[in-house]
Amino acid sequence: MKMCASGTLIRLNQDLWHGCYYARSDANDVARVEDRTFICSLSKDGAGPTNNWEDPREMRRRLKGLFDGAMRGRTMYVLPFSMGPVGSPLSQIGVQLTDSPYVVVNMRIMARIGLPVLAEIDKDFKRVVPCIHSVGAPLSPGQSDVPWPCNREKYIVHFPETREIWSFGSGYGGNALLGKKCFALRIASNMARDEGWMAEHMLILGVEDPHGEKTYVAAAFPSACGKTNFSMLIPPASFEGWKVWTVGDDIAWIRPDENGRLRAINPEAGFFGVAPGTSMETNPNAMATLARNSIFTNVALTPDGGVWWEGMTKEPPAECIDWQGRLWTPEIAKNTGAKAAHPNSRFTAPASQCPTIDPAWEDPSGVPISAFIFGGRRASTMPLVYQAFNWTAGVYIGATMGSEMTAAATGTVGKVRRDPMAMLPFCGYHMGDYFRHWIKMQRHVSETPRIFHVNWFRKNGDGKFIWPGFRENMRILKWIVDRTRGRATGRETSIGWMPRYEDIEWTGMEFSPEQFAELQRLDRAAWRAEVVGHEELFIDLHDHLPSEIVYERELLICRL
Ligand code: GTP
Ligand code: SPV
Ligand code: MN
Repeated sequence: MKMCASGTLIRLNQDLWHGCYYARSDANDVARVEDRTFICSLSKDGAGPTNNWEDPREMRRRLKGLFDGAMRGRTMYVLPFSMGPVGSPLSQIGVQLTDSPYVVVNMRIMARIGLPVLAEIDKDFKRVVPCIHSVGAPLSPGQSDVPWPCNREKYIVHFPETREIWSFGSGYGGNALLGKKCFALRIASNMARDEGWMAEHMLILGVEDPHGEKTYVAAAFPSACGKTNFSMLIPPASFEGWKVWTVGDDIAWIRPDENGRLRAINPEAGFFGVAPGTSMETNPNAMATLARNSIFTNVALTPDGGVWWEGMTKEPPAECIDWQGRLWTPEIAKNTGAKAAHPNSRFTAPASQCPTIDPAWEDPSGVPISAFIFGGRRASTMPLVYQAFNWTAGVYIGATMGSEMTAAATGTVGKVRRDPMAMLPFCGYHMGDYFRHWIKMQRHVSETPRIFHVNWFRKNGDGKFIWPGFRENMRILKWIVDRTRGRATGRETSIGWMPRYEDIEWTGMEFSPEQFAELQRLDRAAWRAEVVGHEELFIDLHDHLPSEIVYERELLICRL
């Protein structure tokens, strides 16, 4: 009510969108700000060359100044939250102080909050990660507020040793919902390294075959590269009896159990998903999930009090109000290229509403993981799918992953950057040590998960995607599951195991052996350049690089 009165939220037409609200952010606060994100470990070497570092004493001094009076005139909310099911041995607890009611209502969907968490803290004096957040826009007496208060100066700061998070100036997504990227990845990756587990930017899904056998996999794709879509995949009609179950769409916490089996939980309780491109065609499960009790940020508002975004329907609405509050029509879009929804506009929706949510998604002991999948957005070079020869070869593939940049972070969209394990913006310590941690994890497991690499985004000469993607990805997922179960064949290539045309299930889809060959083609010249690209990352990390990674690179060069 208060937020509707202040203009922060607009109540949508409740007959169409039950329990749903709409928010428009400030035009300068639309995505994560990686250049304003800091890992303030005691030593610069602890953060490593891929993170911004500042001396923690100096940073604390600056934060003290910034936070002094920052919340004046606003209400400060105290938000106890659990990442993971309350009471699970794999869960962690945080308390976020914030002066943003928008953050509170989003956190209520994204995490387990409130009294049960307080009770859990009291139970045996659980360790709590303090998270302090201000939009950095104090109000003087009588000063009227704006719908989306924020500050041009932004600081997203992590103190890994003391496990603290300080966020100033932004109200958007991963900058402000501190349980998500700040806690569940940057701080948790530090905890995980110290305690022998893994905090990863991964979706978790379960594949059920026609006999009811279930295989869980976790997949790391960079931001806006298809995790939400893959986690909610509906198999093509020809896959009778096959079902995909959703455990999580963004983050996985993974730990070996007493039998040495890796088990994963989704620490979140909701989806903060990319809106554009989400439709009944591409992701009907997401559409069903976000149909009620959801918050929409920076999409377009339709005259009937509903929401719209590019790709939601084949026919755009005749008119709507765009994410900046201006009139938008298909005509205006044609002439100016204006987007109705911001490319990083998002829905916040409860995971429990997902039609394919896995019955075990809140199992406190997690689900067993049989395979890891890495994948980026690559117009060339990377084949549709291949399997690593073994664990260290797989860690090498993850470590050298590349992807074109997207709108999920401020930066140059489309440029290929190295994004190891999709964790470049999220690993809270030295990336070389993170690779070592991955290599070491295998020594603590009795069943080594198989590792794969996929690329849904290869393009042909006309700049069109060769692979239709979305539900057709099931064909690749089936090969992956069958490989981990020892049921599928493939051929050995210089980069790993690849399916032959006849190893993939094609029933119900027109796709020729020639098209498949084009998708899987290994271009030697492109791969040479690729390996040189790996070196660029390694030069920065060299004094922390595990020898396994160096040897894997040599082996790859020999085979190429
Ligand atoms: P974050 O929430 O930022 O971590 O993103 P995400 O990895 O969950 O990505 P998401 O599933 O939201 O997809 C991002 C964009 O990729 C959307 O515009 C999708 O339509 C598009 N996309 C997802 N899967 C596919 C696919 O298989 N093929 C193609 N061509 N596009 C896809
Ligand atoms: C991502 O960028 O990977 C996201 C969105 O999932 S945010 O929560 O803003 O980090
Ligand atoms: Mn993400």
